[in-house]
Amino acid sequence: MYGLFRTARRLREIGLIGIGERNANYVLRYNQRKFYPRVDDKLITKQLAIQAGLPVPELYAVVRAEHEIARLHETLAAREQFVVKPAHGSGGDGILVISGRRGDKYRRSNGQLMTREEFNHHLSNGLSGLFSLGGQPDHLLVEYCVQFDPIFDQVSFRGVPDVRIIVFMGYPVMAMIRLPTRMSDGKANLHQGAIGVGIDIPTGITRRGVWGTEIVREHPDTEHSIVGLRIPHWDALLEMASRCHELSGLGYIGVDFVLDRNLGPMILELNARPGLAIQIANGNGLGHRLAKVEALIESGRLSKDPGERVEFARQNFPTLG
Ligand SMILES: Nc1ncnc2c1ncn2[C@@H]1O[C@H](COP(=O)(O)OP(=O)(O)O)[C@@H](O)[C@H]1O
Ligand SMILES: [Mg+2]
Repeated sequence: MYGLFRTARRLREIGLIGIGERNANYVLRYNQRKFYPRVDDKLITKQLAIQAGLPVPELYAVVRAEHEIARLHETLAAREQFVVKPAHGSGGDGILVISGRRGDKYRRSNGQLMTREEFNHHLSNGLSGLFSLGGQPDHLLVEYCVQFDPIFDQVSFRGVPDVRIIVFMGYPVMAMIRLPTRMSDGKANLHQGAIGVGIDIPTGITRRGVWGTEIVREHPDTEHSIVGLRIPHWDALLEMASRCHELSGLGYIGVDFVLDRNLGPMILELNARPGLAIQIANGNGLGHRLAKVEALIESGRLSKDPGERVEFARQNFPTLG
């Protein structure tokens, strides 16, 4: 614990920002409320991404009412694998990653079998808003289950890693990859037990990682090193992340990607209040990087061109230390 405080003190010196600062200086200042629905509803995000020509996992079905659940089993009859998620969910809550079937049961990515009744019950809970922001009734998306890139075979436990990039006024400022563990049940959310691993922006190469409060260099389930991985399609990821600024209308966002072994990078979701553990995963604070972009705002030099913004990020945001 003492070591962690020491790390926290060092990170403050190198620009660690806290939740209050994030909210007051970035989320409230740069994110207009009227654009929140674009990112808070995953169905709207998906539609906007498609309109902008950005790749997303294929939508198989939307469930809006209780009586549609029974029909879903037929709609999905030809699909071995799929993912169900609440449109207004967050932190991985309520997401079912179905990785196969056995008879008329569904197999979850943690290996457990789910009966149709259990499946229906889960979806019914989802519709009632049990897993959603604010607890309001919600709708559910059923989509293509991403087949992760083989580069992650040794560092992912039964789930799909995702790449999170923080984008400020269109500039990618910090990135990490989140690796599912035995604990995280097929999901890459840190609060579910996934590991966050910092990525150096100029090179797309992973550095050390954080698992809960622990700094890690190996995956806890596979013992494989998580340091030094070169993230595939890194250029495309940075450029797509940058374009999400225009797509969302928001100044401060977290963009989540997945890398499919056949289809390449795809946008999973956008977040208007991205978490701060990315700083621990990188051993670098966000403060100084955000200040560099704010200096561009003040001097009227913000770029409208995603390519230019990515170039600026590559020049200015290496992972230090
Ligand atoms: N289509 C998918 N295929 C495979 N895994 C997925 C898919 N969608 C989500 N996941 C897993 O669940 C995690 C959370 O999904 P996400 O859409 O970001 O929702 P949340 O808002 O709850 O974070 C992802 O990081 C990924 O590990
Ligand atoms: Mg997410």
